[in-house]
Amino acid sequence: MRILRRSVRLLALVAALVIGLAVLAYLDTGRRLAAEWRVEPEPLALPAPDPELLARGAHVARIRGCRECHGDDLGGGVVIEDWVVGRVVAPNLTAGRGGVGPLGVSDLLRAIRHGVGRDGRTLLVMPSFEYYHLSDADLAALIVWIRGRPPVDRDPGERALALPIRLLLALQRDTDFLAAEKVDHDAPRRPAPEPGPTAAYGAYLALSCEGCHGADFAGGPIPGRPPDWPPAADLTPSGRLAAWDLEDFRRTLRTGTTPEGRVLPPEYMPWPAFAAMTDEETEALWRFLHTLSADGRS
Ligand code: HEC
Ligand code: HEC
Repeated sequence: MRILRRSVRLLALVAALVIGLAVLAYLDTGRRLAAEWRVEPEPLALPAPDPELLARGAHVARIRGCRECHGDDLGGGVVIEDWVVGRVVAPNLTAGRGGVGPLGVSDLLRAIRHGVGRDGRTLLVMPSFEYYHLSDADLAALIVWIRGRPPVDRDPGERALALPIRLLLALQRDTDFLAAEKVDHDAPRRPAPEPGPTAAYGAYLALSCEGCHGADFAGGPIPGRPPDWPPAADLTPSGRLAAWDLEDFRRTLRTGTTPEGRVLPPEYMPWPAFAAMTDEETEALWRFLHTLSADGRS
């Protein structure tokens, strides 16, 4: 009897602890999701749309992942739907039914560079901490292209965050899940070198790899990702890439299969976005990765 009473008491204690944690996680994430971000993006002059500029914008939207999440036609889509995260939805950016467009230039700048939506709240999972460093030229081409997209009638639905991600967010602050929290809103912008097959331009392209492979490109567990995610690979000379040549690297980014025959799952390693990189771009990345030393420092 006494043992029974004691285990009931223990169970009640555990239940109270779990409920308490859940309440705290809901309060904490609720506050962070509702927080208002007052950022005034730096103004950006937009050139007149010509075919070359539009082609550049379409390309940037592809290799920087916008079209992976928001759909090729920017009509929006579900980005994550599972029991850990719940449901994360990339909005329809066009002026069609179910869309949030047409978006003003400052709305777009605020979202892309700062991770802040039209309502002043943080966006979810958008890697704005990388986009903050996009060059003015790339950003201008991207914005002109987005604003010129035809309306798409599609409603990708509402977001809904599940309890496990709320607990993870409450416990782990260093995450890119809440986009505006991860951006350093006053940081100096990194240099944006002239496009070309150079290591310097590769460093600029490699902005799109840092969030997962780490600032030192040495890989490891990705901050803020659920524990069932594979760690990012080591892209420095101490990793498998040491035995690859440029063609191996290109083929991996374009097919998602490594020279060793490993298949990279696109939901963890977004190679379909990088598959559209030109020969010049993959060469620039390759050259940049070769400036890293084995411990990942340039
Ligand atoms: C990893 C997926 C992902 C990528 C990559 C991504 N987005 Fe998003 N984006 C989202 C999600 C998710 C939201 C909405 C989040 C929310 O519910 O707050 C969003 C919101 C936005 C908004 C906000 C609209 C508003 O409501 O104010 C804009 C604009 C936008 N994205 C543009 C872009 C552009 C341009 C790019 C590429 C440079 C891009 N996104 C890349 C997932 C992504
Ligand atoms: C959203 C996270 C994410 C981003 C962004 C990302 N990667 Fe990855 N990458 C991964 C993960 C995770 C793996 C390991 C996958 C596995 O082991 O199944 C990986 C594996 C790789 C591999 C295979 C390496 C090997 O040893 O087999 C290469 C090459 C690679 N990434 C290059 C890049 C490059 C170049 C970029 C930027 C242009 C990039 N990745 C951006 C998550 C990412």
